[in-house]
Amino acid sequence: MSEPLRLHPSPASGSPDVYSFFEPDTSTWQYIVSDPATKDAALIDTVLDYDPSSGKISTATADQIVSFVGKHGLNVKYVLETHAHADHLTAAQYFKKKFDIPVGIGKRISAVQETFAPVYGYEPSAFVGAFDLLFRDDQTFSLGSLNCRVIHLPGHTPDHVGYIIGQSVFTGDSIFQPDIGSARSDFPGGDAKALHSSLRRLMALPETFSLFVGHDYPTGRQQFCASTVGQHLKSNKHLAKGISESEFIALRNARDAGLGAPRLLHPALQTNIRGGRLPTADHGRPYFKIPITTSVAL
Ligand SMILES: [Fe+2]
Repeated sequence: MSEPLRLHPSPASGSPDVYSFFEPDTSTWQYIVSDPATKDAALIDTVLDYDPSSGKISTATADQIVSFVGKHGLNVKYVLETHAHADHLTAAQYFKKKFDIPVGIGKRISAVQETFAPVYGYEPSAFVGAFDLLFRDDQTFSLGSLNCRVIHLPGHTPDHVGYIIGQSVFTGDSIFQPDIGSARSDFPGGDAKALHSSLRRLMALPETFSLFVGHDYPTGRQQFCASTVGQHLKSNKHLAKGISESEFIALRNARDAGLGAPRLLHPALQTNIRGGRLPTADHGRPYFKIPITTSVAL
């Protein structure tokens, strides 16, 4: 499939066309954001296919995006991450090489790298040049004729950012669709109070702005990727009806206590904190490490 599952045409001058691609294995929404005037484009939160049972990595999902870009004559300028994902591997390095473009992420990725380096045995040198652009809070940059702004949205992870491009906001794993509410905040460096304040920051944007989420996990409906700020204010189950900060923290922590670790946690982190690079080859091929927890001496 080389066509997007959804096309969201620019709602106003200064806003992008957004093409959204759903990756079903990890329920991830990937985005191509393009300037209608220049066809300059950015890729956000792309997915590299990984089969943990065979160790096979492939690019079928990424190649759908490559095909779409070629068919529509887009000029890809950036591949952007909202955060170091723990549930899927990023295809950022594939796109970097394919289009000769920089990989961007929020500057606090360094904190996530420091947290996980000892877990996976990475030396500090492993992170040199892992990302090409380390965005500061509220940093702005251009995409063709469009203005983009980076906003820090911590809570799910400490490095997490969103990208405001015209009236479209790419929120990664902060807010989720109104019937789901918000992302989990129990990863290392995650914090329900910080997540609440990030959600409130999003809710302070104009009500017509569209929030494009990083995942959707529907029950009883089709997955979709965008709701307006106004729709969230009316019906987001973690924000609407006067839910207080302390109530949000309690419900978020209670929900997270029942969630298991993501299926691709270790391969994803080992890849994503290095900008999408695989571990260095050992005896001719790369391997992922899986830390073992046990109280038994074996
Ligand atoms: Fe995430």
